[in-house]
Amino acid sequence: MQDTVIPVPEDWARRAYVDDAAYQQMYRRSVDDPEGFWAEHGKRIDWIRPYSRVKNTSYDPHDVSIKWFEDGTLNVAANCIDRHLEERGDQVAIIWEGDDPADDAKITYRELHEKVCRFANVLKKLGAKKGDRITIYMPMIPEAAYAMLACARIGAIHSVVFGGFSPDSLAGRIQGCDSNIVITADEGLRGGRKVPLKANTDEALKKCPTVKNVVVVRRTGGDIGWEEGRDVWLHDEMQAVSADCPPEEMNAEDPLFILYTSGSTGQPKGVLHTSGGYLVYASMTHHYVFDYHDGDVYWCTADVGWVTGHSYIVYGPLANGATTLMFEGVPNYPTAARFWEVCDKHKVNIFYTAPTAIRALMGAGDDLVKKTDRSSLRLLGSVGEPINPEAWMWYYNVVGDGRCPIVDTWWQTETGGILITPLPGATGLKPGSATRPFFGIQPALMDGEGNELTGAASGNLVITDSWPGQMRTVYGDHERFVQTYFSTYKGMYFTGDGCRRDEDGYYWITGRVDDVINVSGHRMGTAEVESSLVAHPKVSEAAVVGYPHDIKGQGIYAYVTLMSGETPSEDLRKELVAWVRKDIGPIASPDLIQWAPGLPKTRSGKIMRRILRKIAEDEFSNLGDTSTLADPAVVDDLIDNRQNRA
Ligand code: WT7
Repeated sequence: MQDTVIPVPEDWARRAYVDDAAYQQMYRRSVDDPEGFWAEHGKRIDWIRPYSRVKNTSYDPHDVSIKWFEDGTLNVAANCIDRHLEERGDQVAIIWEGDDPADDAKITYRELHEKVCRFANVLKKLGAKKGDRITIYMPMIPEAAYAMLACARIGAIHSVVFGGFSPDSLAGRIQGCDSNIVITADEGLRGGRKVPLKANTDEALKKCPTVKNVVVVRRTGGDIGWEEGRDVWLHDEMQAVSADCPPEEMNAEDPLFILYTSGSTGQPKGVLHTSGGYLVYASMTHHYVFDYHDGDVYWCTADVGWVTGHSYIVYGPLANGATTLMFEGVPNYPTAARFWEVCDKHKVNIFYTAPTAIRALMGAGDDLVKKTDRSSLRLLGSVGEPINPEAWMWYYNVVGDGRCPIVDTWWQTETGGILITPLPGATGLKPGSATRPFFGIQPALMDGEGNELTGAASGNLVITDSWPGQMRTVYGDHERFVQTYFSTYKGMYFTGDGCRRDEDGYYWITGRVDDVINVSGHRMGTAEVESSLVAHPKVSEAAVVGYPHDIKGQGIYAYVTLMSGETPSEDLRKELVAWVRKDIGPIASPDLIQWAPGLPKTRSGKIMRRILRKIAEDEFSNLGDTSTLADPAVVDDLIDNRQNRA
């Protein structure tokens, strides 16, 4: 299967912005003359004061500094809205599809303009100004996009927190960036179930005394608590302010947003993206990777709580004047045909989703797909984790009827936009490969000793030079930024991913090489889950690793050592799962807990996760060197327990 190459369809090579020859030529120029290349492509967005300097970046670990278009000024919201008004004021900007199939809405660019201006004035009235951090904890409703764009309009920095995170996780993220305004909704609605967003916010705010105001969107009308003087209803405030709000002139390097993401150690870090380079990169990748043309209906199924929602529901598409679909619900409600029904209902042309959803829907059977038409679909996309060739083939043959190229897009929260991907009119496809680098991206593979590997090889994936969408720092902790990404391989950005390059120069991402697990396309730090588990009074020690999971890609496997006197039981197992769920959020729930009387440690006390990973993967015969273990018997015990587990 890995040798299968699906060539670019004739019509695609003709209609797309770039064919293979154009890709080769543009790619060459982008790496031979980055200054010239980006000077030209930076113009795809509107600048208030044009830039004269293009690239000023250093990966030197003593002085990591990344600046693009640094003397230019712009406003991101004006680029996403105002500049389209003249030509496409009446075009639909956002198609909203509610959780309930009977619930939908269309918002034109003109309506978007009015909503965002009013929202921005509401924030101003509450005292928000340029540089302030505003936390957004919202369901997938248009107001989430309005909130982000309203922040961008006044120069405030938004930090969107996924609505599935717990009050504690929300509190940590509010404190992490000192927000004094939180924007939320009374309740969210997903798969017919209510998500108590306002109640969670109230709970979180007990730990965040600096928050002055909570702006509440009415979504369900459910009962909620109210703190007079602190909480305001968005709909009331919107009426009370003007619909006129001139966009703030921002420097290209002024921050646009912070997005917290898990790392291999410690608490989540605030990935900081700035304005000019980010928008150029998000809009350019959206344009070429999805080959977006005027009039296309584009749907990315992500949540705005993740970077995919930032770059490919909101900023990239809107900067391009696109029609972007925003979906409140889940893939299997009311039935597992929902995605395809929505494609038919709104005549979706470009559809972008995650392998975990594809695998889950594949499991629901072909009939649910085949009873829908899907003839509007022209291009399919995948993101978030490696897509196994079986799921790829199903997506291609069943969902796309063998007609639609699949763009398997590799990138990260840190990269701001897509780095390795096919271009539908240029790249022959290999199921499971993210294929080739986007313009300006220079990937390389490194071995453990710091040598660069050439030709066909497997190693750690690095990027050797900067691109405009790259994160600039970890908010409030530049040293952590340098340590995490620029210290492993000097002078290179380390992605944390393993990767193989084949004879054709195609890249195959193999997954994380650090202590990060990818659960359903969401990143989870093993350290976070461990620290949650050990906070439970009955737990003495915990070690968490990933293991292969049919639907989620990776599941969370926790080895737990109990306090002496405590005994393992099914009830305690459930209690621990519920504990982590409540502490971090449902996405962190351990899938498997193995009681471990002891953990394999080196003589200096370091847990040997490599061994724990192998046991979780059922690879008992392949444990590697165990000679440095303090007590080798511990391993036999764990294997015994693993094999005899219920
Ligand atoms: C990690 C980044 C980028 C938006 C969604 C996730 C994995 C992402 C792919 C892909 C193989 C992928 C990597 C990466 N990943 N896309 N197409 N093929 N792996 O963003 O939470 O920052 O996670 O997701 O391991 O490092 P994220």
